[in-house]
Amino acid sequence: MNNQLEVLCERMVDCESCDLYRERTQVVFGEGSMKPKVMIIGEAPGEEEDKRGIPFVGKAGDKLDKILNYVGLSREEIYITNSVLCRPPNNRNPNSEELSSCRWRLQLQIQILRPELIIVLGRVAMQQLGDKPIKGALSQFFPENIDGDWLNYETKGHKAKVLVSYHPSYLLRSPERGYKTVLPHWKQVKRWLENE
Ligand code: URA
Repeated sequence: MNNQLEVLCERMVDCESCDLYRERTQVVFGEGSMKPKVMIIGEAPGEEEDKRGIPFVGKAGDKLDKILNYVGLSREEIYITNSVLCRPPNNRNPNSEELSSCRWRLQLQIQILRPELIIVLGRVAMQQLGDKPIKGALSQFFPENIDGDWLNYETKGHKAKVLVSYHPSYLLRSPERGYKTVLPHWKQVKRWLENE
């Protein structure tokens, strides 16, 4: 692991900066390449992630793996993390205090890893990256609603493209509608990777 990330990881292991520490089994730090072209931001660890200490290893993780496989990306070449690093009780959404306590850590991870493309999965992740509540539907940020383009994110001089899509758990709830909506987003990622 990259030195700065290792220091951050050590610092987070016994983090008690929000109440999520009370019921977590362990902090689920990000995982993957130390030179990722692509970083994926999910919502929060679920039951399986909390048990194993690895992001996206439950049912939503299986869906994400299928999509990554379609795009031609392996977990080893990207970096995956969450909006908050500890499991919220009963998998509820992290609240605004929990999100703000974990925001500096996400920003620092982006500054250290400097991904070219950040893929934001779902409303909570968009709220965390953008540092503000979202008014209206998440779909306003989808590529088809911004002229097929990318959003941008800048932190400490590092600029990244951003693609917003639904969280893979949406595919578990509504597979047919879900795939129809998210497939064009991932096709855009695939095209971008092929043309890089
Ligand atoms: N598992 C994760 O690590 N993150 C999510 O957002 C959902 C499941």
